[in-house]
Amino acid sequence: MIDIDTVSYDTKIPNNVGLSEDRRVLKALEKWHPGYIDWWKEMGPQGFQDSLVYLRTAVNVGADGWAKFDYVRMPEYRWGVLLAPQEEDRVVPFGEHLGEPAWQEIPGEHRALVRRLLVIQGDTEPGSVEQQRHLGATAPSLYDLRNLFQVNVEEGRHLWAMVYLLQKYLGRDGREEANDLLMRRSGDPDKPRMLGAFNEATPDWLSFFMFTFFTDRDGKMQLESLAQSGFDPLSRTCRFMLTEEAHHMFVGETGVGRAIQRTCEAMKAAGIEDPNDIDSVRALGVIDLPTMQKKANLHYALSLDLFGSEVSTNAANAFNSGIKGRYHETRIDDDHRLVDDTYPVVRLVDGVPTVVDTPALTALNMRLRDDYITDCTRGIARWNRIPANIGINFEMTLPRQAFYRQIGEFANVRVSPEGTVIDDATWAAREGEWLPSADDGAFIASLMHAETEPGRYAGWIAPPRQGIDNLPGDFEYVKIET
Ligand SMILES: [Fe+2]
Ligand SMILES: [Fe+2]
Repeated sequence: MIDIDTVSYDTKIPNNVGLSEDRRVLKALEKWHPGYIDWWKEMGPQGFQDSLVYLRTAVNVGADGWAKFDYVRMPEYRWGVLLAPQEEDRVVPFGEHLGEPAWQEIPGEHRALVRRLLVIQGDTEPGSVEQQRHLGATAPSLYDLRNLFQVNVEEGRHLWAMVYLLQKYLGRDGREEANDLLMRRSGDPDKPRMLGAFNEATPDWLSFFMFTFFTDRDGKMQLESLAQSGFDPLSRTCRFMLTEEAHHMFVGETGVGRAIQRTCEAMKAAGIEDPNDIDSVRALGVIDLPTMQKKANLHYALSLDLFGSEVSTNAANAFNSGIKGRYHETRIDDDHRLVDDTYPVVRLVDGVPTVVDTPALTALNMRLRDDYITDCTRGIARWNRIPANIGINFEMTLPRQAFYRQIGEFANVRVSPEGTVIDDATWAAREGEWLPSADDGAFIASLMHAETEPGRYAGWIAPPRQGIDNLPGDFEYVKIET
């Protein structure tokens, strides 16, 4: 009998899935483990591998006290396989199999679909670690450095989570995919990561915070819809990943928020009222608010692309087959089959973005993207309280969803943040107002210097209101030299 609430450490791999009794999967994972460690050393955080980092490690999957905090060297982090508790009598909550008992194995006819979803999700996890690997050298504080590494080790664990499912439920195909996940590299022209946003550079800490706000939030939406899956081990895996994911979005939201706060405070102190007086603001050693808006525009557009095409038969199949549901599926009041329903989708009609009623099943990517946009909008509203409280007249906004898209309906048109289709000349003339330029990047880079003394914060970012694990902001979150 497996005690699902406590994690077994009697194998090399902490787990609550009874690995010590599952010799085949245990062996497969133990065989994969050295390659993972090699990948971590080669492509994980640059430097700091011998530093003691104050990290949380998942120790059980219950609602409270699931993590314990302690100093750990990153290569010794206990990456484990953890599933949320099994719900008794759970049924497939949507699609053609609605109401049937949830599956403990993948139904044969859906193996290819599940494999693809696991690989796509799995590929994003190491991708983001690779993108962020050089950021340790310019961390604005030990607190931020620790948060970066926490996100990194947990993305590593998310890779483990997907690899466990591949190896346990997809046999030899799964083992091959697990190996390939260690071979691809973010931004590599020959063997890139699978999705665009995970091949972009994360050149500085503002990008990192925007990435964790916007792109990890896409991850959250994908995990939420997979957490609804009729394939129960996938549902339970994703439910536990979501527990960790919340911290990643916290890092992004508070990181950008602290940058906004610092800029507004510096403007106030210097008597600068106009946020567009960029030279004066930059002279204070802080990032001007319009540049933050441009960074947000970029990361938002890249993240919208992750939801795929506006109209998608793959999305319909994943739903019909009971594998991937909607955000908060079980809380939605409808028939959970959607056969005769429609959903409003923004499409390009005669060159104009127009709302078109579309069969709901093929519009599921859009529905998830709309839920994502709502979630982003709430976060932006929280950011906007900061200038308002300090008395700076500035509001961050989200561009319209057709802006700067590379996938789907709007991939081949130029659209302003306000949603107007424009010609190439107008785009070329105004792009610098909407997206970060090389000059913006160089200015931000000029501010990126590491602060390695406990309690010290780089000048462009405010200290956090409170530390991690109820510790103060001047706690030594990373012992760099040990
Ligand atoms: Fe993740
Ligand atoms: Fe994440």
